[in-house]
Amino acid sequence: MKTFRIALYPGDGIGKEVLAESMRVLSAVQSRCGDFTLETTDLDWGADYYFEHGAVVPDDYLEQLRAFDAIFLGAIGDPQRLPDSTTLAPLVQIRQRFDQYVCMRPARLFRGVKSPLANPGEIDMVVLRENSEGEYTPIGGRARVGHPEELAVQSAVHTRKGIERILRFGFDLARTRRNRLTLITKSNALVHSMVLWDDVWDQVQSDYTDVETNKLHADAAAMDFVRRPDTFDVVVASNLFGDLLTDLGAVVVGGLGLAPSANIDPERKSPSLFEPVHGSAPDIAGQGIANPVACVLSGAMMLDWLGLGDAASRTRLAVEQSLEAGETTPDLGGTLSTTEVASAIIQRVGSH
Ligand code: NAI
Ligand code: MG
Repeated sequence: MKTFRIALYPGDGIGKEVLAESMRVLSAVQSRCGDFTLETTDLDWGADYYFEHGAVVPDDYLEQLRAFDAIFLGAIGDPQRLPDSTTLAPLVQIRQRFDQYVCMRPARLFRGVKSPLANPGEIDMVVLRENSEGEYTPIGGRARVGHPEELAVQSAVHTRKGIERILRFGFDLARTRRNRLTLITKSNALVHSMVLWDDVWDQVQSDYTDVETNKLHADAAAMDFVRRPDTFDVVVASNLFGDLLTDLGAVVVGGLGLAPSANIDPERKSPSLFEPVHGSAPDIAGQGIANPVACVLSGAMMLDWLGLGDAASRTRLAVEQSLEAGETTPDLGGTLSTTEVASAIIQRVGSH
């Protein structure tokens, strides 16, 4: 029997609701498989914790998290009570300090789910967003603040090491899927950073001559995510481009209620973090109508990462069947509650 230590970090708003329901699903999968144990620890961090302790997380939160095999997170943010810069800061720190340099975001159009596109085709892609550097490096500053001549400088940092490791991860992943890899670039305008991406791409590609490849400028890629999303398999993009394209990827396959993600340290020196793409959705929090599927599918990605491929497949299959049967929350046109959707998925886990 394999045992894995999982940190459960529900966070705020619907994060708490979808994580609790996702754990009910994973527990059912665990009982069904019978060959592994998820040993969970609840972390009550977030906005409520702040009002009791004066900070959203304890001082030693990184050390505490380091002891786990994986972190399963709901969502963070309570914008009515606290600024996002306070609540979301630990999440950014976790990604950086644990060197979770791959942000993996699959976008798949499930049967029974309506795409906003007229002719979507069979969409099944994974976008890998570089998660450790790029355009989101907090380097820069502002000068002449408040004056008409005020200026801001924000520097992007792209390193050969950082680019090479995400590209290799992409090529390796493509080999396990449909063997196709697309690089998002913009080297016609960003003539230093994106040209470095192109150069590293040319070198790494020679180790993967069996993988079919193409390169797209970010603007053209945005067009193709709408025009022919079914042509993508694995896509690698820098931090900013990946951020933008994954929202587009999520919406063409049914929206945020279905979009899972994983922040991965492929070297496995630190725990990886699994979370739905969506935030804490204050507009629907507390109503019991949040779609739990994005979080459940993030849980399936966690099972895969822990080497529990059978359990992950069972989870996904149950979700697929449930979606196809129309067992959905209001965001997908259904009438079920968060708990009812999770229960419907659990029923299907039991029937395999
Ligand atoms: P959001 O993702 O929370 O919500 C956007 C829209 O999608 C809302 O209308 C919401 O009701 C809907 N939605 C999201 N998830 C849903 C689900 N599972 N089922 C049904 N509908 C769903 O983004 P928003 O409103 O911009 O941000 C709210 C808070 O969440 C902010 O504090 C923000 O900073 C934070 N946030 C946190 C993230 C994280 O924890 N990783 C990611 C994105 C935002
Ligand atoms: Mg985003």
